[in-house]
Amino acid sequence: MRIVVTGGAGNLGREVMAALGRAGHEAVSASRRSGVDLRTGVGLAEVLRGADAVVHTADTLRPWEFRAVTLGGTRRLGEAVAAMERPAHLVYISIVGVDHHPYAYYRMKYAAEMALRDLPIPVTVLRATQFHSLAAALAGMRIGPLSLGVRGMQIQPVDIAIVGQRLAELATSPAPTGFTRATDLAGPDRFAAREIAELVARHTGKSVPRRVDVPAVGGTMRAFAEGVVLPGPEADLGGERFVEWLDHQPRILPRR
Ligand SMILES: NC(=O)c1ccc[n+]([C@@H]2O[C@H](COP(=O)([O-])OP(=O)(O)OC[C@H]3O[C@@H](n4cnc5c(N)ncnc54)[C@H](OP(=O)(O)O)[C@@H]3O)[C@@H](O)[C@H]2O)c1
Repeated sequence: MRIVVTGGAGNLGREVMAALGRAGHEAVSASRRSGVDLRTGVGLAEVLRGADAVVHTADTLRPWEFRAVTLGGTRRLGEAVAAMERPAHLVYISIVGVDHHPYAYYRMKYAAEMALRDLPIPVTVLRATQFHSLAAALAGMRIGPLSLGVRGMQIQPVDIAIVGQRLAELATSPAPTGFTRATDLAGPDRFAAREIAELVARHTGKSVPRRVDVPAVGGTMRAFAEGVVLPGPEADLGGERFVEWLDHQPRILPRR
């Protein structure tokens, strides 16, 4: 199969490209560095020509681009797929809990899911929890000997490789007739954010930080404290455990 991977050179996109390659498929990366810009649509129609499926992982970490890339780029991609002679199966990576979370990025991810739902094309949305690297970066934030966190926050991070593998499997499976959600995907272990902060501190050889838990004020912090980003009982759990992942990371963790 010929499968386009938006953001194929990004952290998750690389995993999808590798999984597709292992399974013998032709994987084509599409992002600005290969001449495809989701903000403008430049290069989209060309790269989609002849594609059987599209795995959409491209996104931005810049808050001022959430509307144009996270939402607008996803909608533009969906419309370009709808304009194909034979619309490809579009597989989109989203995040567990985006439908109940007021954080601006999560609201845009959910709006992007809804934009795809409104199009007459086969779509599969896979929601995953936070990747191990993000969990480590968030929980590992410290100010000198202190680490700050939201009281009550838990996290169940997932191995990025299993997410890439699952996206590749979905893209190479028979396409649904319309919009569908795959079973949510999460890692096997749930941690208090404080526990991750301690594991990361030990790994980096720093003293274990004194944890200062701030009460959850405002909708975003409350949603994290209330476990909105945690997987439900029906989620698939799997992949490398957080502690195993940490074991083979360099002492100075790569920045997210
Ligand atoms: N991190 C997590 O914990 C987590 C958890 C669940 C789901 N996710 C989802 O996973 C996805 C990928 O995350 P990631 O960590 O792999 O991101 P990443 O490493 O930042 O990669 C994103 C890619 O998007 C491309 N891109 C950015 N703006 C673009 C534009 N205007 N047009 C075309 N391509 C553009 C970039 O390539 P160029 O610079 O070449 O354009 C980049 O390689 C996101 O959708 C995110 O919501 C992440």
